[in-house]
Amino acid sequence: MPVAVITGANRGIGLELVKFYVAQKWDVYALCRNSSDDLNESGAKIINKVDVGNPDTIPLALSKLKDIKIDLLINNAGVLGRDTIKEWDPHTIEHQFRVNALGPLLVTQCLLDQLKSGSKVAHITSRMGSLADNSSGGYYGYRMSKAALNAAGVSMAHDLKEQGIAVALLHPGYVQTEMVSYGGDISAELAASRLANVIDQLTIENSGSFWHSNGDVLPW
Ligand SMILES: NC(=O)c1ccc[n+]([C@@H]2O[C@H](COP(=O)([O-])OP(=O)(O)OC[C@H]3O[C@@H](n4cnc5c(N)ncnc54)[C@H](OP(=O)(O)O)[C@@H]3O)[C@@H](O)[C@H]2O)c1
Repeated sequence: MPVAVITGANRGIGLELVKFYVAQKWDVYALCRNSSDDLNESGAKIINKVDVGNPDTIPLALSKLKDIKIDLLINNAGVLGRDTIKEWDPHTIEHQFRVNALGPLLVTQCLLDQLKSGSKVAHITSRMGSLADNSSGGYYGYRMSKAALNAAGVSMAHDLKEQGIAVALLHPGYVQTEMVSYGGDISAELAASRLANVIDQLTIENSGSFWHSNGDVLPW
């Protein structure tokens, strides 16, 4: 049974990714700060108290996974702030960096020994981290932190290639979750199945690419 590890698994896109892979008969480890009723009913193995924004607690929290080999790691947990040029707070921007950029880097580093040739790492980023695609401004902390995640993902693709581990940067689409006050244009369930389809197509040859969940390659 292939093994998937998914962060931010208690709700939104993360929860639907958990449900998708459980339905495909994967062994799923669902990482979250606090579980939810939906996650409790999903059939995944739940690891609570994984705050990806807290570098002091991640290594200990992830040590619970030390005996497993991982086929797929999905760094999904994320936060969005609505900073404007006039109104932003260094602490909330720093928080977005910690969760959106440093979190995936540290989670991946802590789980490196459990990845193997053929394993995949999928970072759920956003096209809002694209410089070329930024046609509307604002969202300073979110855009900056997702651009930083994209940079980390490309470095990881280079660094892990020799070990046969492929890395993808994935934009899920505009998805109906709490993050966007449920204003998206696709459901979290559809986003999860599209993301899984793109993850299926991830290989060591195309590692380091930035994809929309609809399969389009996005500009940096
Ligand atoms: N929705 C969209 O349109 C959209 C578009 C582009 C990219 N994305 C990306 O998709 C990913 C999932 O977002 P979503 O739409 O599903 O949003 P969501 O419903 O707000 O879910 C966010 C998830 O991240 C978790 N999280 C936040 N801070 C965390 C922390 N410090 N440690 C651990 N987990 C934390 C949340 O857990 P708690 O319940 O503990 O807060 C929750 O499980 C994010 O990376 C987001 O940036 C979403």
